[in-house]
Amino acid sequence: MATQPIAFRWPASPTELPKAAFHREDVFRLENERIFLGPEWHPLAHIAELPNRGDFKTFRLGDAPVLIIHGDDDRARVFFNSCTHRGTQLQTRSRGQVEEFECPYHRWLFNNRGELLAAPGSDRFPAAFRKDDYRLRELRTAEFHGLIFATCSKEAPALATYLGETAPLFEQVLGDGRLNLLGYQKVTFSSNWKEYNDNEGYHAPLLHRAFRMLRWQAGKGIQCATEYGHVGLQAQLQSAANSDFLNDPSLVEFRGGNGAGAPKSIIIALFPLASVIKHLDVINVRLVIPHSVDETEVHYAYFCHQDDDPAMVLHRLRQSSNLLGPSGFISLEDGAVFNRIHQGSLTPGRARYQKGVAAMVPPPCIVDQNDESANPIRWEHYRQIMGFERDQD
Ligand code: FES
Ligand SMILES: [Fe+2]
Repeated sequence: MATQPIAFRWPASPTELPKAAFHREDVFRLENERIFLGPEWHPLAHIAELPNRGDFKTFRLGDAPVLIIHGDDDRARVFFNSCTHRGTQLQTRSRGQVEEFECPYHRWLFNNRGELLAAPGSDRFPAAFRKDDYRLRELRTAEFHGLIFATCSKEAPALATYLGETAPLFEQVLGDGRLNLLGYQKVTFSSNWKEYNDNEGYHAPLLHRAFRMLRWQAGKGIQCATEYGHVGLQAQLQSAANSDFLNDPSLVEFRGGNGAGAPKSIIIALFPLASVIKHLDVINVRLVIPHSVDETEVHYAYFCHQDDDPAMVLHRLRQSSNLLGPSGFISLEDGAVFNRIHQGSLTPGRARYQKGVAAMVPPPCIVDQNDESANPIRWEHYRQIMGFERDQD
């Protein structure tokens, strides 16, 4: 695999970035190699999406199609979705349940542990042919609170090290990982993946009309920024001061019982792209496919706890489908802005971060919830992986 550096200079100031990073094809190709197929961990599914033996889901790691399978030995595995004979994509459905995968081209047959069971005509294969050498290519995987992570690289650190200071937050969102899937919303934004993932807390009360209508103040909150470019936001999120105009005020009602003073809003924004979110009673995992330099597909998966009573399940479902997501009451405007950043970034020059950056310190560190000072820390991790040199001044 080519890993040639490309000529792309980065500004000397850590709070600036070149807008061309959102548009250059060569940058996008290098991201695929160094980030998506490189030494980063990527969550690809929650086990609640494939709860039974034989359940599978297809997704992409960068541009590589992958299969996530709940094997009949109750182990979740991640494979490249590609036949080990001549490379044909094995499965095209987004989800399903199978005992075996049959490649359509020459009918090689694999079980849900990735083992090759049969290859028609193998009596005429070379004598050295061994089925064991043609197992589906498995990625290094690790599970955390039910989230299934994978990496293509042996170099990636242990997952707990990689998650760093965000690791303790997962329990507050996903509990012990015993969840049920409520459903998905899927949307494709006309923007670069980095414009999507560069979202922060500064904009929320300013861009989103609903925050203003609700007179919804976030209360106290912090973000932790980690060495590997992850950001964990915790906000107390006081009650909305005005919900009279809503037909159903339960839309902004908090029913969860995670203790006085516990954060009602938690956003774990993992580098490069996934996020794990609790907002009021919504439990949301967002997984993302960067299709091209101009196109980013986001899957919003919503969950409830297995122990929730029916009223809580209904409440979570109603809140999930109305509050967040591409048409969510408090996130509706994000997609439009991602597109406008993408268009505006076709102009020459640099984007600049301002809010809170005067007090920036190296990660791991804590910054205010509504500052944009965690963004440059994430960009610095990106710059280092991509091997872009900074200008001297
Ligand atoms: S490519 Fe899959 S069986 Fe030939
Ligand atoms: Fe937003």
